[in-house]
Amino acid sequence: MVLKITWKRAIATTAALFILAMAFAWSGILNIGASTGHWAITDWFLHWSMRNTVRTYAALTVDEPATDTSGLTSAASHYAANCAFCHGAPGEHPSYVMKGATPSAPDLSVTAKTWTDRQLFWIVKHGVKFTAMPAWPALDRDDEIRRMAAFVRRLPDITQAEYRTLAYGPDGRIAGGKPMRLEDALSDCERCHADDGRGQPDIPILAGQKPAYLLAALIAYASGKRTSGVMGAVATRLDPGLMQALADYYADSPGGLTNPRIIANDLMAKDLVAENIFTSGLPEANLPACVNCHALGKDPGYPTLAGQKPEYLADRLRRWRGDESIVDARKPNAPMPVIARRIPAHMIEPLARHFARQSAVLTPGGSER
Ligand code: HEC
Ligand code: HEC
Ligand code: HEC
Repeated sequence: MVLKITWKRAIATTAALFILAMAFAWSGILNIGASTGHWAITDWFLHWSMRNTVRTYAALTVDEPATDTSGLTSAASHYAANCAFCHGAPGEHPSYVMKGATPSAPDLSVTAKTWTDRQLFWIVKHGVKFTAMPAWPALDRDDEIRRMAAFVRRLPDITQAEYRTLAYGPDGRIAGGKPMRLEDALSDCERCHADDGRGQPDIPILAGQKPAYLLAALIAYASGKRTSGVMGAVATRLDPGLMQALADYYADSPGGLTNPRIIANDLMAKDLVAENIFTSGLPEANLPACVNCHALGKDPGYPTLAGQKPEYLADRLRRWRGDESIVDARKPNAPMPVIARRIPAHMIEPLARHFARQSAVLTPGGSER
């Protein structure tokens, strides 16, 4: 039997498809969460149609010249404050948080070459629908947009030093949300770590920690090797030199770790099992003694635990226990996930408290002075 296409049938089918599509959207199965990204085909289609739109509209609507190099300073400063947190800039990562957008913003020092001047002008002016890319907020200011298009055109060739001078001026401080000097960076850290480095209640103590460990932690946050949405956002905005200066500053701050004054009374009671694990480990569980690495005078990359906040220590140990991806305890840089998994579950809290009350200075042998 051949079904004849009639107006009635066509309308009924269209209505049925519409109702099905609405029912699908209503069901909530369609995942619009950004965390899963697009399907490859959606990604391709959106970008393909975006390129087509830009090509057509730029050719039809944008007059030459589309760029103007006479105002690169204002364009660069505006870029630093309003574009770099999505797109990055020479020597600067994009914001740690904006990397999670779908799609995430392209690195313009690479992609700028794939567009003509008129196309860059059109994108900067109109933005891109269904993405985070905003339109220029003042659509009647083609002069500003021409300067920005000229700056974006330069991005592939500009050095970090040239960008800095353009964007922040010769003695720039906090620009584009990025601190340039130690005191500016510190005023940011203080929001959470307090001005003495001992931190708000739920934050680890930095004061008195080993500088090499603090530096390694900042580098690991910035690279994503150590994950934290909060500290990642902070660390990606720091230059290597500033990280070193901050690590040295907090390491030298008085009144922090290994300082007897911070022992809380309820932490004074000794737990003999915890003490034993600290000094001798648990041979039957293949658990090494913590003192092997965590006493004074050991490898500068091993953090001092004495005097650290017990909630924080317990929390890190618990998170490492979940990291099944690391299986080799002898890995020089990452022994802790394996060690943490070998600690009996009920000993996590007592061990964390043991370190917290160990805020008297430790001798390398592990006994308290
Ligand atoms: C909130 C994040 C965000 C901000 C802020 C932002 N952009 Fe974008 N931008 C994007 C995203 C996402 C795309 C990719 C759009 C796409 O692929 O369809 C994009 C694309 C672009 C492109 C096209 C590059 C390419 O290869 O696709 C240019 C040029 C551009 N942005 C310039 C700027 C300028 C200049 C500013 C500041 C005035 C700016 N953007 C601010 C997110 C942002
Ligand atoms: C918004 C709050 C916040 C700000 C601002 C902040 N931190 Fe942190 N910091 C945290 C939290 C929370 C942690 C613990 C994160 C974790 O679980 O890994 C942390 C951990 C750290 C650690 C690791 C400590 C350890 O014992 O492993 C270092 C180092 C550090 N911060 C340095 C800094 C520096 C330097 C600054 C300023 C440039 C700063 N932080 C700004 C909240 C903050
Ligand atoms: C082989 C050397 C080694 C041994 C043994 C060792 N650790 Fe560690 N520990 C490390 C290293 C290295 C780090 C830093 C890891 C990092 O931040 O990625 C660390 C970090 C920690 C931290 C987090 C400190 C902070 O400030 O964030 C805790 C808690 C900890 N160890 C507890 C223990 C306990 C409890 C034991 C004994 C059961 C132990 N460790 C034995 C090397 C060791």
